[in-house]
Amino acid sequence: MSMDPINLYDYEARAKLTLSHDTWDFIDAGAMDEFTTRRNRSAFEDLTLRPRFLRDIGERDISTTVLGEKISMPVMVSPAGSHMVAHPDGELATARGAGMSDTLMMLSTSSNYSMEEVSEAATGPLWFQLYHRGYDLTEMLVHRAEEAGFKAICLTVDTPSPSPKERDLRNQYSRGFELGNFRATDRPQSEISGTDETPGWEVSRALPITWKELEWLRGLTSLPLVLKGIRTAEDAHVAVENGVNGILVSTHGGRQMDSTMGAIEMVPEVVEAAKGQAEVYVDSGVRRGSDVIKALALGARAVAIGRPLFWGLAVNGADGVHGVLELLREEVDRAMSYCGQTNIRELEPNLVNIPYGWGPGRMAP
Ligand SMILES: Cc1cc2nc3c(=O)[nH]c(=O)nc-3n(C[C@H](O)[C@H](O)[C@H](O)COP(=O)(O)O)c2cc1C
Repeated sequence: MSMDPINLYDYEARAKLTLSHDTWDFIDAGAMDEFTTRRNRSAFEDLTLRPRFLRDIGERDISTTVLGEKISMPVMVSPAGSHMVAHPDGELATARGAGMSDTLMMLSTSSNYSMEEVSEAATGPLWFQLYHRGYDLTEMLVHRAEEAGFKAICLTVDTPSPSPKERDLRNQYSRGFELGNFRATDRPQSEISGTDETPGWEVSRALPITWKELEWLRGLTSLPLVLKGIRTAEDAHVAVENGVNGILVSTHGGRQMDSTMGAIEMVPEVVEAAKGQAEVYVDSGVRRGSDVIKALALGARAVAIGRPLFWGLAVNGADGVHGVLELLREEVDRAMSYCGQTNIRELEPNLVNIPYGWGPGRMAP
C-alpha cells in the first residue's frame, strides 16, 4: 500500500504517472522557454522568512474573507479550462473539493461543465472567470454567472493574443472536450475558443477588450470585478481608478508571455499602487504553505493554485483537490506557528526578507 501524499509534489509525481504524456504536457507547460514558469518558483525561494519564537501561538486563525466572502484559509482555486482532461467529473469534482476545504473556486469560461452545473455541485463560493468573447457572448456569460449565484466576475486580461505552448504544438494536442458554457450557442469554434486555447483552433483576433470597455462591462452586472493578470503598478493604478474591486496578480503560470518576473515579485508594487482600494491576490508558483505566508506578508489578501488542482483531480477527483488544499492548510498553519503569528489577517511587518533589487514596491524596513 502506498503512502498518502505528504506534499504537493507527491500529488504532482502521481498525476504524471496517471496522465497521458500529451495531457501532462498541456497542464505542465509554460510559454516558449518556460523561463517565467521556473521564475515563479525561484522568486518564492528567493524570499525568506524571519521566524519569531517564544510567543503564545496556541490559537491560530487562518480564515479570511475575499470581497466579503468567508473562506477557511487564504488559498483559493485559480480558474483553468478543461478539468475533464484530468478527471471525468471535471469542474464538478473541483468545486466539491474546494467546498470540502471551505474555500473559493474560480470557474473558467473554458470549463467543460457549464457554470450552472458547477454552481449546482458547489458548496463554497464561486467567482466566474471571464474571457471576453465579443460583446454579445460576454454579456450572455456575465448575466448567466450572476443568475447562477457567482459572487464576482474575474476578467482575465493577460491573454491579448494566442500563445500556444510549444509542447502542445509538438504534440499536436487537442483537448477534445466540449466547452460547457457554450453548449446552447451555435457559434463556430473560432468565436467561443480563446487565446489560451489549443493550437489549431482559429481564434478571432478582433476581440481584445480595452480599458474603454470596462465601464460597459461593469454596467452589465452589480457583481464586483476582479482583474486577473495585472503585473505592474502602472496597470494597477488604472485598475483602481476604474473602480476595480480586486486584482489577481498572475503570470498565468508562465503560460502566456515568457520572460516576465515571477508573480510574487510583482506583488509589492501592485499592493502599493492599489492603496488599499482593491484587494490584491496572487497566483503562479504557489506550492507551499510558506509561499502563502510570504505572499500575505507582502500585502496579498489570499493566493490561488492552478496546476496543483489538476494534480489533485488526476490522483483522486474531488478528494484529491481537497487533499491538495488540506496539505496547504497544514503548511500554512505550521508556517504561522514558526513565525509567531496567530491571525492571518494581521500578519506583522518584516516577516520576510526581500531580496535586494526587487521592483519599485519594496517594503519599508
Ligand atoms: C491547464 C491550465 C489551464 C488554464 N486555463 C485558464 C483559463 O481558462 N483562464 C485563466 O484565467 N487562467 C487559466 N490558467 C491559469 C491559472 O488560472 C493560473 O493563473 C496558473 O495556473 C497559476 O499558476 P500555477 O499553475 O503555477 O499555480 C490555466 C492554467 C492551467 C495550468
